[in-house]
Amino acid sequence: MLPKGILLSTSANGEMDTMTIGWGSLGTDWSRPVFTVLVRKSRHTKTLIEANPEFTINVPLEGADVRKIISWCGTRSGRDTDKFADCELHVVPGEKVAAPAIAELPLTLECKVIYKQEQDKEAIKEDILKSHYPNGDLHTAYIGEIVNAYILEK
Ligand SMILES: Cc1cc2nc3c(=O)[nH]c(=O)nc-3n(C[C@H](O)[C@H](O)[C@H](O)COP(=O)(O)O)c2cc1C
Repeated sequence: MLPKGILLSTSANGEMDTMTIGWGSLGTDWSRPVFTVLVRKSRHTKTLIEANPEFTINVPLEGADVRKIISWCGTRSGRDTDKFADCELHVVPGEKVAAPAIAELPLTLECKVIYKQEQDKEAIKEDILKSHYPNGDLHTAYIGEIVNAYILEK
């Protein structure tokens, strides 16, 4: 069964962060394999990805119970706490990007941002604007070219 979220991890300015994402897509753009994430303005992750436009996507293997990790990393900000320490995550440096891989969610996509765009409020359908952006916390889409993909060995 797929978990209700996976992790998006970043690193910049001498710190790391990871956050739960439910929005994201795998695809092909400009003939390159890409993973696109949508990050709201308010996320600490946004500060880090702007400072270092690289990230990893961290996916658990089938059968692993990562519900507590997904819940914690989706409700706490890296501004206030070290989520890696809180969840006792084992971090492995990325091979081709300066962002961490995570042993507990070993399927790893290493991505370099090749395009980003902040949502245009005027272009969003009225009902979606009301339901998802009552306080204007818009998403920025980051299209990351997948430059490396692997499953961390135990
Ligand atoms: C299941 C789930 C899915 C989420 N998906 C997203 C997402 O796609 N984009 C986003 O900006 N926030 C998403 N969030 C919220 C962030 O994970 C949450 O605000 C987190 O605390 C941000 O951490 P940061 O401030 O360290 O970046 C999601 C939360 C949960 C629980």
